[in-house]
Amino acid sequence: MPDRTQSLLVEDVTKSFGPVEALRGVSFTAAPGEVLGVLGPNGAGKTTVVNILATLLRPDSGRAVVAGHDVVADAAGVRRSIMLTGQYAALDDALTGFENLVLFGRLLGMRRREARARARELIAEFDLDDAADRSVGRYSGGMRRRIDIACGLVVPPQVVFLDEPTTGLDPRSRQRVWDLVAGFEARGITTLLTTQYLEEADLLADRIVVVDHGVVVADDTPARLKQRTGGSFCEVVPVHPGDVAEIAAVVGFFAPAGTVEVGSDRVSIPACDGAGTLARVAAAVDARDIEVADIALRRPSLDEVFLALTGSGSPRLEVAA
Ligand SMILES: Nc1ncnc2c1ncn2[C@@H]1O[C@H](COP(=O)(O)OP(=O)(O)O)[C@@H](O)[C@H]1O
Ligand SMILES: [Mg+2]
Repeated sequence: MPDRTQSLLVEDVTKSFGPVEALRGVSFTAAPGEVLGVLGPNGAGKTTVVNILATLLRPDSGRAVVAGHDVVADAAGVRRSIMLTGQYAALDDALTGFENLVLFGRLLGMRRREARARARELIAEFDLDDAADRSVGRYSGGMRRRIDIACGLVVPPQVVFLDEPTTGLDPRSRQRVWDLVAGFEARGITTLLTTQYLEEADLLADRIVVVDHGVVVADDTPARLKQRTGGSFCEVVPVHPGDVAEIAAVVGFFAPAGTVEVGSDRVSIPACDGAGTLARVAAAVDARDIEVADIALRRPSLDEVFLALTGSGSPRLEVAA
C-alpha cells in the first residue's frame, strides 16, 4: 500500500550534472493539501528538484516518493498523480483552447462526451470563454499559462508542481496564478511552488523550504522563519526628521549597546521584550514631547530572512569552486 501520510517525501536526494553538484542531499516532506514554497535564487536547484519529483530526471542517490509512488521504481504511478505546468510543450498551437482540452481528456481515456463536458467546465473556471474558439498560437502569455494549467487539471491531480509560475508575468496574470493556488488548496491538492519572490512564498505557502546551492538552508512556516532570523524590532518615525538623534538617545536605554539603527527619518531597535519594549519606548518618547508619526513593532521581511540564512541576497551569481 502506498504511504498516504505524506504527499511528498524527499530524502537525501543528490544530483550532479557533470562537475556541477546541483543537489547535495536535499530532504523535505509535504502533507496532503499543503502548499509548499521552495524558495531560492537562480541556480539554487529548484527546477532540478521539481524535475526529479516529476520523473523527468533520475536522482543520483536518495529517495523521492510522490503520492505514495517512488519516482524511480514507480514512475508511471507518479505521472498519473501529478500535474506539471510551465512546459507548454504538450499544447497544440493549431488547435483552439477548447480543442486542446478535449484532446487531453481523450488522451487520458475519457469518452468524447465526457471530455467535451470537462473542457467546457475548465473554460468557464479559467475565464477563457472569449478565447475558447481561438487557436492557442494566438493567445497572450497569461492566457497561454492558464490554458496550460487547465490542461493539467482535466483529471484533477493529487500533487501539482508549479515551477516559477509567475516569473515574467504582469501583476494581473500573477494575481490569477495566486488565485489558482488558492483553488488547489481548497480542493485538497498538494502544491509545490518554486519562486524567487519572497513575498510570493510568504503569501501563498503554508511552509517554506529555502534552498541555496543545492542544500536546504531552512524549512519552516513563513511566520517562524521571520521570527527565527532576528525576531521583531521596534521602529519609531518622528514627525520631524530632526528629532531622530534625540529618539536614538532615548531608546538606547531599552536595547543592547550597538543595536540601535538610526536612519534618515526613523530609529529602530530589537524588541527583545516584544510588546513590552514597544510600550516602554512609546512612553519614553512621549515623556520627551517628541511628535511621533509612527511607532510600531515590525517583523523582518523574508528578504531579510534570506539574507540572514544564506549570508547573501538574491538573486546572485554562481561562484566557480
Ligand atoms: N542539464 C543541465 N546540465 C548542466 N547543469 C545543469 C543542468 N540543469 C541544471 N544545471 C545546473 O544545476 C544547478 C541548479 O539548476 P536549477 O535546478 O535549474 O536551479 P534553479 O531552478 O533553482 O534556478 C545550476 O548550477 C545549473 O546551472
Ligand atoms: Mg528553475
